[in-house]
Amino acid sequence: MRTQAMCGRAAMLAAIAALVAACETMPPPTDPQAALIAKGRRIFFNETFAGNGRTCGTCHPADNNFTIDAAFIARLPASDPLFVAEFVPALAKNFENPRLMRAFGLILENLDGFDDLANRFVMRGVPHTLALRTSVASPAGPRTGWSGDGAPGDGSLRSFATGAVIQHFTKTLARVPGVDFRLPTDEELDALEAFQLSLGRKEDPKLPLPLKSAVAKRGQELFLDRKVGKCNFCHVNAGASADFGGGNLGNQNFDTGVENLPDRPPRLAGEKPPRDDGFGTPGDGTFNTPPLVEAADTGPFFHDNSVATLEAAVAFYDGESFNNSPAGKALAGATGSGIKLDATQTQAIASFLRVLNALENIRSGIELLESAAPHDDPTQSVFKQAIGDVGDAIRVLREADLHPEALAPLENARRFARRAQQALFTRAYWLQQAVAALKQARAALVE
Ligand code: HEC
Ligand code: HEC
Repeated sequence: MRTQAMCGRAAMLAAIAALVAACETMPPPTDPQAALIAKGRRIFFNETFAGNGRTCGTCHPADNNFTIDAAFIARLPASDPLFVAEFVPALAKNFENPRLMRAFGLILENLDGFDDLANRFVMRGVPHTLALRTSVASPAGPRTGWSGDGAPGDGSLRSFATGAVIQHFTKTLARVPGVDFRLPTDEELDALEAFQLSLGRKEDPKLPLPLKSAVAKRGQELFLDRKVGKCNFCHVNAGASADFGGGNLGNQNFDTGVENLPDRPPRLAGEKPPRDDGFGTPGDGTFNTPPLVEAADTGPFFHDNSVATLEAAVAFYDGESFNNSPAGKALAGATGSGIKLDATQTQAIASFLRVLNALENIRSGIELLESAAPHDDPTQSVFKQAIGDVGDAIRVLREADLHPEALAPLENARRFARRAQQALFTRAYWLQQAVAALKQARAALVE
């Protein structure tokens, strides 16, 4: 019996090994779009453009939802190129503010030009680069960055990459192309654009969803309610476009008063970054609407990272800063009142956004695991991203005691995905197990 079993096992292993060998020798993707995306992925995570050592992935890492926050930053080694201002003498002044970077995840941006580095700059959080297909287009042209004018030139995603290299990759403050960095080529810009547009959702959810949690379900009603939450005017279907009743207006800018919040953390820490004037030079005080499906796991919130929790970000709309802002007043004029939310309502809306985020993490996790093609991904960023997504689904639910019954399948999914990541011969099996566990978790959240 024993030899027979071993023999059966050996035969099975040999068969699997043969299959794996066949897979390993499979050529890279022949679909031109897939090849372009794969090339963009390599550039995004590996290309330093002959600069100070940073890559796009330095600030937009795959395993942290393409953004960085203080906790993520605290785990990096001191030699990480994010910290060039701390160890490259030429970048010690007027390039970053290491204190604000480490405490609040803030990055220095010279949005109004490089003429007066000591005084003309703003400190902004790093937005994720997910679901860009849903959050950049507007009738007035593409809107990128927190103020919608982050990119030089035409404001497109393509131009944004060039702007990012000049801003963040330089070896010295002289910023001379060909000396301090090299500019991306047209082919590289095409690949970067294709890769970024491949990340995350390609469309907004269609609300309302048949949610199973009573609290999240109520939050969804309040979110959509044109007399109470009023969120859907500017964040249609929890995305980044506006609709005041006359049709979808695409991605819009508003002055919602974030810059007027009292007790903003950098100020409490004794720093006085200049006021951020938003879109244009000089700015008009407006900021670009971000999508909310991705919000729960990409805090801190707003362009200046001034609010650490999702619940507090929702509560912002009940406050003076919003209701006295140009956008708040316009909304009150159009609907008869400002936004008023009590604690249970704030919590319900935040819970709704948490469940939406968990559902998106599950969707993305399944998509990534099903596509996990190790051939062209030496950094295993697809696996890292998928495992990160499952971890986020767990965290955003657990933080607000939502859906405890979904946690066990999610934990299983994460364990199986890690085994798939490490497996040589049994990858397909563990991928399948992980996907099945994710589907089980999803069934707990939505009908
Ligand atoms: C040092 C950190 C850092 C690096 C490196 C970096 N970024 Fe960013 N990124 C940011 C910050 C901060 C913003 C917000 C800028 C603004 O509001 O204008 C941003 C915004 C973006 C956006 C706008 C997203 C949106 O929703 O509108 C895109 C796209 C982007 N970055 C792509 C890139 C690419 C491509 C690279 C590499 C060429 C790169 N970034 C390198 C910090 C960084
Ligand atoms: C008048 C348009 C408008 C309305 C109404 C509105 N928002 Fe916003 N929202 C914005 C803009 C613009 C930003 C970016 C502001 C900034 O960073 O300065 C934003 C940012 C956010 C963020 C931060 C996202 C992130 O990634 O940092 C959250 C969360 C949010 N809104 C939730 C809501 C909720 C919940 C409601 C309803 C109670 C709501 N919003 C109503 C325009 C609006």
